[in-house]
Amino acid sequence: MQTLTTVAYLAAAILFIAGIRRLRSPATARSGNTVAAVGMLVAVVATLFDADVLSLAEIGAGIALGSVIGAVTARRVPMTSMPQFVAAFNGVGGGAAALIAFAEFYRLFLEGGEGGFVVLFTIFLSMLIGSVSFAGSIVAFGKLEEIFLSGSISFPGQKALNALVALVSLGAAGNAIVGGPAPLASAVVALVGALLLGVLFVIPIGGADMPIVISLLNAFTGLAAAASGFVLTNSVLIISGALVGASGSILTYKMSSALGRPLQKILFGAVGAAPAEKEGDGEEKPVTSGSAEDVGALLNYDADSVIFVPGYGLAVAQAQSAMAELMRLLESKGKTVKFAIHPVAGRMPGHMNVLLAEADVPAEKMLDLEDVNPDFADTDAVVIVGANDVVNPSAREDGGSPISGMPILDVDNAKRVVFVKRSLSPGFAGIDNPLFYDQDKTMMLFSDAKTGLEGVIAAVKNS
Ligand code: TAP
Repeated sequence: MQTLTTVAYLAAAILFIAGIRRLRSPATARSGNTVAAVGMLVAVVATLFDADVLSLAEIGAGIALGSVIGAVTARRVPMTSMPQFVAAFNGVGGGAAALIAFAEFYRLFLEGGEGGFVVLFTIFLSMLIGSVSFAGSIVAFGKLEEIFLSGSISFPGQKALNALVALVSLGAAGNAIVGGPAPLASAVVALVGALLLGVLFVIPIGGADMPIVISLLNAFTGLAAAASGFVLTNSVLIISGALVGASGSILTYKMSSALGRPLQKILFGAVGAAPAEKEGDGEEKPVTSGSAEDVGALLNYDADSVIFVPGYGLAVAQAQSAMAELMRLLESKGKTVKFAIHPVAGRMPGHMNVLLAEADVPAEKMLDLEDVNPDFADTDAVVIVGANDVVNPSAREDGGSPISGMPILDVDNAKRVVFVKRSLSPGFAGIDNPLFYDQDKTMMLFSDAKTGLEGVIAAVKNS
């Protein structure tokens, strides 16, 4: 039986790795998800057949309830709200790891047995990291949903308080590990302290940095789960926790690089702490605005090469199918069409790739920032739909800009630039875009993304 379980765990681990590998491209991501889910099923079934299962009925009820909640939520949640739901689900994982660790500690305590240093150390590792991840993720969820603790919350002495809470929590954990007095009370203090630390850690972080923090908390949950694996001597939990920890860390690093914000600045600095001032509204500077017919004529007669830049507004307006239809129409007229995908366009990593893949845009037409940037200089027209920050030249040119240093798509190198958005309002970072006001190069089509693109499609067909 033991050998069978080990083989099943090994198979599950291989399926997890194969699944993650397939997540690298939108074309294979869906099947990657299924492969990893099958791996999880194998792991769960193998664990149920393993020794020490207390009550199959209770476990079955838990699985059924969790599956229903997971399936209903996943179906209902809009793509634009995905970061907060990742936070919520991640938090639940961290909370589970902390509870398992606490339960194991309680069991050892009741049995009066000595856990030994290594066991107690991993129990507290799992309990502390899992609690920080749980509380931090719940705060992140509340902030992004704008239900509670929105914006950045800071107060004098915050860092000192964080350090004090961390010390008390670690001290209490250390006391319990070395077998000091009142071990159960110490464990409760450590747990509560870690929960408080999770809250304190996330409240000062502002909106633009939240996805990075969520990814970091995700990595924490992985570590907590891996530590739980050591506590329960469950190899598949160790492997899957390590995979989550590693992939979460890599994603955190990639996102902070893509935003041009070093991680230590996000976590300990004031960057992103103050909500950026919304500029742009009510600006009196002149712009060149055009109708859908004007944009249609430009694309029809003045552009052989076109690059589309999708952004958050495309997702909100669900305009991906219209963008794909315009691509097909222009291609049928012999024009080359590509898509430039900024790593943080939209509200989560891969947001634009997923949307465009849904609309049957071939993956090879979606080019990453480094690959597409040299192409803009040879491009006749760039059509930017519902995007602003990711094409804002201030990131390159204005050292004092909140997005200074963030790599951007160099759309201003193209011959003509068209923005499809409803107004001159700024984007997520809250800063104006000087490209709007380049009257020789830029045409503003003030419209909802979907309506605007449909208008352009009709105009290209008719002109
Ligand atoms: P943004 O800079 O946020 O700009 C989006 C634009 O969409 C807005 O200027 C808005 O202008 C327009 N818009 C909204 N609804 C629209 C609609 N129905 N039709 C047409 N336009 C609409 O978007 P971006 O360029 O994609 O940049 C993403 C930003 O989000 C970055 O600052 C990034 O750091 C941040 N962020 C990214 C992530 C990840 S990981 N992707 C996560 C969190 C935050 P109007 O109101 O004038 O229409």
